[in-house]
Amino acid sequence: MTDKIIIFDTTLRDGEQSPGYSMNTDEKMYLASQLEKLRVDVLEAGFPSASEGDFEAVQMIAKKIRGIEVAALARTSKHDIDAAWGAIKEAANPRIHVFIATSDIHLKHKLRMDRNQVINKTLEAVKYSKQFTDNVEFSAEDGSRTDRDFLCRVFEAAISAGATTVNLPDTVGYAIPREFAELVAYVKAHTPNIGKAILSLHCHNDLGLATANSLAGINAGARQVEVTVNGIGERAGNTSLEEIVMTLHTRRNYLPYFTTINTKEIYPSSHLLAMITGISVQPNKAIVGANAFAHEAGIHQDGVLKHKTTYEIMEPATIGLETSRLVMGKHSGRHAFRDRLSELGYDLSESEIDQLFKKFKDLADKKKEIADEDLEVLVAEELLRVPDIYKLKYLNVISGTTTVPAATVQLEIKGKKVEQKAEFGVGPIDATYNTIARLTGTKSRLLRFSIDSLTGGTDAQGGVTVRLEEEGVQTIGKGADPDIIIASAKAYINGLNRLEHLKRRRSRQN
Ligand code: KIV
Ligand code: ZN
Repeated sequence: MTDKIIIFDTTLRDGEQSPGYSMNTDEKMYLASQLEKLRVDVLEAGFPSASEGDFEAVQMIAKKIRGIEVAALARTSKHDIDAAWGAIKEAANPRIHVFIATSDIHLKHKLRMDRNQVINKTLEAVKYSKQFTDNVEFSAEDGSRTDRDFLCRVFEAAISAGATTVNLPDTVGYAIPREFAELVAYVKAHTPNIGKAILSLHCHNDLGLATANSLAGINAGARQVEVTVNGIGERAGNTSLEEIVMTLHTRRNYLPYFTTINTKEIYPSSHLLAMITGISVQPNKAIVGANAFAHEAGIHQDGVLKHKTTYEIMEPATIGLETSRLVMGKHSGRHAFRDRLSELGYDLSESEIDQLFKKFKDLADKKKEIADEDLEVLVAEELLRVPDIYKLKYLNVISGTTTVPAATVQLEIKGKKVEQKAEFGVGPIDATYNTIARLTGTKSRLLRFSIDSLTGGTDAQGGVTVRLEEEGVQTIGKGADPDIIIASAKAYINGLNRLEHLKRRRSRQN
């Protein structure tokens, strides 16, 4: 048996379907290109039968990403499998991933099927998929709560119909490591022809055990793990890619397996996902959290200064985390600018570089030193966004201890300038938002508002994230600027643009 662990990334499917993480097609394309650089073995691009938007995004990814496998998810119906194949048929290396639930709980309450019906559905679905491609994965949803012998029968059926990978999910994150390892060993020992397929694992993190369960399952014989960047995914998330890859990398003495992940792209991937979704990684998150390589306690600092290995088990550079930060300023040229973006993981076209370089120069006029984070904000602001209906042209705010805060805003709406004079508010941001709401006539509700300092110092870029809701459609908006009120206005306007885009997409689908 090989010691290579196949990394199946489902950030764009299981991750993207979880609340707060939805992405538009352009955003998915950026992330897919980054995952290709990270060299995941398989990229699950989405669930094409879920919506027209999902279908289109998977299709675009399948056409563009040539260096790794591209998978699409389907239930066992012909309709779903046709949609999955339709979306990925132009991929260089397509994989159809079919699934059906196998636990008695799901059979009784969700599928209302008996076990024989599930076996027949499995056989039919895998056979039907095989006429399109040889590369077919089968998943037994809620596998960890499935009767063991029935699970083996289902996998036997899938393999007899031609599945090349069989996946055992801990769908509800219920398993604990020793139990899960025993289950994997049982499946290996009791499923006829299991050697003809790769055994895969897909763990959720409801008890915080997804990584531990996946590692236990690898030790018991699984050779593929399904993971997401930053561990995002349904409820408490999926197994985190960075935790699996870096544990295997760091503890080779105990876990004699390897991946072919380009570890230097781990941090850029984590950061890009956070920039796109507007959801920051928790500071104490293993490997990629802001504190993962920070040493605060005096004793620790002293130890690290004497010898890094006293308190560091990994080199930050291994995951692509540079320690040198401030590199660019107003004297930097286009060449250095392009090189730095490329080091940060952004492969941009010449016209995208031109567009960004102009904005970079504007920013450099306001801010002495431009940090990597500033550059990433520029990319997110300029390139990762939907076409604008509303554009901020002018904002003037008065505020202070003896005045009622008021804001004057000028917006361009569909190419036409509209002006609205001072609305008041309880503070300058409230006044700005009231004015923008009047101008746009939005009926949206502001569900969340957060401000982060993206870089250090009093000339730091403020990053604002808002979450808006209208007619059941939710989206986030992001804005960044050294002036926190302008950043807030940009975030609100960005959210309103996304909301319009999503509402239009939904009405086209209806
Ligand atoms: O959690 C799960 O069971 C899944 C399957 C579709 C693989 O996401
Ligand atoms: Zn899942």
